Amino acid sequence: MTFRRRAGRDSMTAVIKTVNLVKIYQNGGVPVTAIDGVDLEVQSGEFVAIMGPSGSGKSTLVHMLGGLDTRTSGEIWLDGKRVDTLSESAWAMLRRKKVGFVFQFFNLVANMTVADNVELPALLAGATPAQARERREYLLDALGLTERADAPPAQLAGGEQQRVALARALANEPSLLLADEPTGNLDSRNTRDVLRLLGEVHSRGQTIVMVTHDARVASLADRVVSLLDGQIVDDGEIPTPRLRPRSGAGGVVELRG
Ligand SMILES: Nc1ncnc2c1ncn2[C@@H]1O[C@H](COP(=O)(O)OP(=O)(O)OP(=O)(O)O)[C@@H](O)[C@H]1O
Ligand SMILES: [Mg+2]
Repeated sequence: MTFRRRAGRDSMTAVIKTVNLVKIYQNGGVPVTAIDGVDLEVQSGEFVAIMGPSGSGKSTLVHMLGGLDTRTSGEIWLDGKRVDTLSESAWAMLRRKKVGFVFQFFNLVANMTVADNVELPALLAGATPAQARERREYLLDALGLTERADAPPAQLAGGEQQRVALARALANEPSLLLADEPTGNLDSRNTRDVLRLLGEVHSRGQTIVMVTHDARVASLADRVVSLLDGQIVDDGEIPTPRLRPRSGAGGVVELRG
């Protein structure tokens, strides 16, 4: 059984679409179904939080969406193009242009400075050095990392490395930002910086799919998709508190005494 998001939106603009997506790992000959028939559509500009208990398949799902893991069956479409059948090299090209990642292991290049780590994806994608530098300066500033620009990643704290990984993922202005618990190692101040930047890029139209355990982080999203045992068990928009009328407001005359 799969939960289908209600229809009615224009699927032409879907950045992500999966059709009956399945991932079965073989654990020493024992099959483990990590993703079990997921139909997910994410529209351009949406900010989707993926939640669910440990082992529910969140990382497996986002890894497949970014081509870091292969699917067992089903289809994955990115920007209207079928991608689950692509070769690894075709995926590498596509990722360079369209997908930014922030994962739990940051994979920063050890012998390059923070600044170069952030500029590299933009340069690989064809930005001029001036454009790459400008984007890097903006991102490092937004994340409070400007003073660390010339340091090698090994000299940074875990939370700083995580923010560099976010800056790097956003360097290309990707069609899709995938993040697996991007605030997992951060203290509350750094979490605030990361969330502020995510909110800012989202307000400029960035599509974001983010795994999180943290309900406060998820509350920044437009929509929460809940996974359980590899299936979508809930998929709903988050009501915007600003749009809810406050109780007692709206011309109600309060009578006392
Ligand atoms: N490389 C792998 N080989 C075998 N089994 C795997 C592999 N990766 C994940 N699994 C299994 O697939 C299931 C889903 O794992 P996944 O990592 O996607 O969960 P998750 O929701 O991200 O959990 P967490 O919140 O702990 O990060 C689990 O049962 C896990 O043990
Ligand atoms: Mg995970």
